[in-house]
Amino acid sequence: MLPKGNFPEKVYLNGKIVTADNAKISVFDRGFLFGDGIYEVMVQLENGMFYKKAHLDRLQDNLDKIGIPYNVKEIDDNLDGFLHAAGLEGESCLIYMQVTRGVAPRKHAYPKNVPPSVMMYALPYNLPPINLKNMKAVLEPDFRWHRCDIKSISLLGNIMTNETAMNANTDEAVLVRNGMISEGSHTNIFFVKDGNVITHPANEHILNGISRQIVIKLCRKLEIPVIEKPVAENEIKNMDEAFFTGTTTQVASIAQLGHHVFYENDAIGEVTARLQKAFAELRKLDTSQITL
Ligand code: PDD
Repeated sequence: MLPKGNFPEKVYLNGKIVTADNAKISVFDRGFLFGDGIYEVMVQLENGMFYKKAHLDRLQDNLDKIGIPYNVKEIDDNLDGFLHAAGLEGESCLIYMQVTRGVAPRKHAYPKNVPPSVMMYALPYNLPPINLKNMKAVLEPDFRWHRCDIKSISLLGNIMTNETAMNANTDEAVLVRNGMISEGSHTNIFFVKDGNVITHPANEHILNGISRQIVIKLCRKLEIPVIEKPVAENEIKNMDEAFFTGTTTQVASIAQLGHHVFYENDAIGEVTARLQKAFAELRKLDTSQITL
């Protein structure tokens, strides 16, 4: 029996839809033993799955990067049927998907001819059109590995730094590598300076967030210049605005980062507010087939 908590009723596991209690995998699954797998999180909103294709393309890219032989078309083909079975067809919900390298005797080398383990679930989830929470964040050393571009299920570095943020009564931990800001523990971070939007380039030190890519596109559309370069920790005090992006975070204004206070009250910077509105507008469209 599962402990009490917000678990889904139904789980998609290796081609079958089962109750959460019956969703069981082997202890020899490489996801369990090594964290050897990739995950993805997306939301279904009032007009369909928000940037579904972009999320599934990223899942495929990540699986290809680590050599898990799996075609995400199978997930795509089963999504609607699964949501129907889960009672969430057309409902606002959060969809979690995970693919691991499968079950094999514990050896570091990739096993041959082992079918991947595929799991997904969905939970009712209501996202307000605009995230009005003014975030506070701590600064933490980015001690993660050098392949943060891979959406690995091994998230120890992310959860350890996030826990520091929770213990400090803040919303997020912002990570600093060699004096430069990389990203949040589960978000990307943007700054605004003199009307320019600045964010870390999409390299191996950050996850190239779908929301990050959407916001960069929106900036181009709104003729807001975007500079993809890391911001130094000691430059935070010179920035005019800062905001997080993420699938469940959307675009969230940062009121305080480390010791630097951007806003004492509920104020939201001009550029952040424009981007929040433009992001919310996207919900009126069917974005499920858009590629980024
Ligand atoms: N986190 N950076 C990291 C380290 C993340 O884990 C995430 C997402 C992002 C934002 O990516 P996107 O815009 O594609 O959601 C950036 C997910 C939501 C999670 O782990 O739950």
